[in-house]
Amino acid sequence: MSQSNNFQPHLRKQFIYLLAFLALSACHSKRISPTQSQGVTIIPPPEELPELSGDPEKGYEYIFYGDYVKSGYPLKLALGDAYDPERVWDRDTIKTKYGKAVILFKDRRNTSVMSGSCMTCHGSVLNGQFYPGLGEAFGDYSKKPGWKFKLTDRVVRRKLGKSSQEYKSFRDIWQFQKEVSPRIVTPFVGPNPAFRLEEACVAFRDPQNLHYTSEAQFEIKGETPAADVPPLWKVGKKRALYYNGMGRGNFSKLLMQASVLGVKDSTEAREVWQHFQDVVAWASQLKPPAFPAEINAELAIQGKIIFEKNCSKCHGTYGDEVSYPNKIIPLDKVGTDPYYAQYFATQSGLAGWYNKSWFSQSEPASTLQPSLGYVAPPLDGIWATAPYLHNGSVPTLENLLDSKSRPVFWQRDTVSDNYNVKNVGWKFISHTKPNHKNVYDTSKKGFNNKGHTYGDKLSGEERKAVIEYLKTL
Ligand code: HEC
Ligand code: HEC
Repeated sequence: MSQSNNFQPHLRKQFIYLLAFLALSACHSKRISPTQSQGVTIIPPPEELPELSGDPEKGYEYIFYGDYVKSGYPLKLALGDAYDPERVWDRDTIKTKYGKAVILFKDRRNTSVMSGSCMTCHGSVLNGQFYPGLGEAFGDYSKKPGWKFKLTDRVVRRKLGKSSQEYKSFRDIWQFQKEVSPRIVTPFVGPNPAFRLEEACVAFRDPQNLHYTSEAQFEIKGETPAADVPPLWKVGKKRALYYNGMGRGNFSKLLMQASVLGVKDSTEAREVWQHFQDVVAWASQLKPPAFPAEINAELAIQGKIIFEKNCSKCHGTYGDEVSYPNKIIPLDKVGTDPYYAQYFATQSGLAGWYNKSWFSQSEPASTLQPSLGYVAPPLDGIWATAPYLHNGSVPTLENLLDSKSRPVFWQRDTVSDNYNVKNVGWKFISHTKPNHKNVYDTSKKGFNNKGHTYGDKLSGEERKAVIEYLKTL
């Protein structure tokens, strides 16, 4: 369960569905053909400059308080016994009471509603402090939605009355629940199925006008693809979004994808989009938190030299001379779990839907171009973003850089709960078998911890130096 969010669990889950949509985001470069060498793709620069004209402060305001989901749960229902029609709830009180990920707004029927926000997945607590942009790593999608979901509609209808504005507002969002909830189940706590959420929502929308359709536009099958939530402070360096680099073109269109949870049609989507230039501007200037303990400066300098020799060609350079090559490394080269990339490139109907949808057919266009590889990400603030790799299968940097030391079944030590400053990452307990939903099970499809063996050839001393250097980024 989220540490950043003291929402009632059932509400939180519902919000999460809404939010999942949002997760789909954006980028620039249009249709310039990428350069390739040994299968490595260099993502081309955009034809037009990215939308840097937005206002970061307005973007922050919109992300935390905006109505981009457009629909939500009636406040009356969400607050339950705490609801008092006389009381005017202000937005900050709601956040204090229900967690930072909650937004409160009036929907298109002028009903007061509550919804989840981007911060449901993209805001998190580390060492007692909330960081907007830091990925939520404890989302629990492991439970199968039971009879509870079926009952909810009936209960709401009975409580609010079928013809009430509130019930209609509830239906705006709930119509997707029955499609979404059975499809986003993950084998254990942690991995985030945001794109599966997106798939389940858009599969029931007409691509052009985004109206709800009762017939699915494409079939959704296969194990739930799920990933570790990336930090938003990398957006400023990226030419393509998402682990597989599939998010191309206009970033603001990509970043607003969660709105498919609640917008009525493409006209409402356009209204939302107009604010997302500000959101892109906000994300682009976001900085990672500084490492909270002492750093051995001399060792870090040695680490920098080793890093630049062994790692920079993929991950770029930092400090005085900043560079970032925007490379997608093919699956057979990087060797990490292939399922996530393969799923979107060969199995999912998402890109097909997206590329004929309002997102891609109206200007400025964004497209989804899935690849059979993973982006070598910028490593800014890497100390704060455990667990590592796209599937979050590795708990510390020490384990990442020494592949033989990676645990097979492991669980975060939430008792001490302090970050592991020495090995950088999570304190964890190894298990001999996966006997609890909180145990990360690397034997499950999509969650293996193999590959990325670039640190193996370093000596123990060299690895220590590189980790010391990584703390400074
Ligand atoms: C249900 C959880 C969830 C919600 C809600 C959500 N996201 Fe995400 N987001 C994710 C996950 C998981 C990924 C990683 C997907 C990938 O890269 O393949 C992601 C990826 C992204 C990326 C790409 C980052 C990168 O480095 O490539 C951006 C930008 C982003 N989200 C922005 C947003 C914004 C803005 C919102 C709100 C409008 C939002 N997300 C809502 C889960 C979520
Ligand atoms: C050939 C290109 C390449 C080289 C060389 C390389 N990496 Fe990577 N690195 C990648 C790719 C691709 C990923 C993403 C893999 C995934 O998520 O499945 C990655 C992921 C990572 C991550 C995890 C990022 C995260 O947010 O979870 C870290 C840390 C990292 N690399 C550090 C290093 C270090 C340190 C070196 C040098 C010892 C290095 N890498 C060498 C391509 C490379």
